[in-house]
Amino acid sequence: MKDLLGIKVLITAGPTREPIDAVRYLSNYSSGKMGYALASVAAQRGAEVVLISGPVALDPPQGIKLISVVTARDMLKAVEENFSEVDIALCSAAVADYRPLQTSDRKLKKESDREALTTITLVENPDILATIGAQKVGGQLVIGFAAETEDLIENAQKKLRAKHADLIVANEVGQGKAFGTDDDEVVLVSQNDISRLPKLPKMKVAEAIFDKAMQLRSSLN
Ligand code: C5P
Repeated sequence: MKDLLGIKVLITAGPTREPIDAVRYLSNYSSGKMGYALASVAAQRGAEVVLISGPVALDPPQGIKLISVVTARDMLKAVEENFSEVDIALCSAAVADYRPLQTSDRKLKKESDREALTTITLVENPDILATIGAQKVGGQLVIGFAAETEDLIENAQKKLRAKHADLIVANEVGQGKAFGTDDDEVVLVSQNDISRLPKLPKMKVAEAIFDKAMQLRSSLN
């Protein structure tokens, strides 16, 4: 089914890395599997896909444009350069919420740089989803993800409103759920609807997300 023919899709995926010095960084366990599954499904269904990815150990799907980034600020820049051109943006990246205020170009030494290494001051990173949620114009759909350990639906609804998203894909994390796994059990939360999906492989979850996105798109137009 090529129901995404003529549609441009932007996807953020994977973790970001926030450097401390020449050899150390802050990051998280995101595998990028959800974002890469979304890119693969979108391409199969005929979309033109830009995948903006942090460092992951995955091969990019065939026939898409991959932009590789490292930090949250690099990711935001790449997203902002491409967002105005796209119809659907999906932010599945696990962007590091904070980054070290200071980074060193050399390797900090355990002994002589003890002070710098034991008192790393963090500053907040830009919120990419919220940034494009605030920039979107009529006809554009912005989709976010919410990994929560508690109050799944309530937090997803808050995120939907706070970030001006059209859809939040909510999943419960912790105890081996979601990060790095091949299956996901998600709830699709939009302004007027809550749809619970069964536990499915990430490719099937990606299919369901695009089904929902196309339904939301038809109600926008
Ligand atoms: O607030 P929280 O981090 O739980 O929100 C998750 C959603 O926001 C995901 O869609 C994620 O990709 C996006 N996000 C982002 N930039 C950030 C933090 C989160 O795009 N700095």
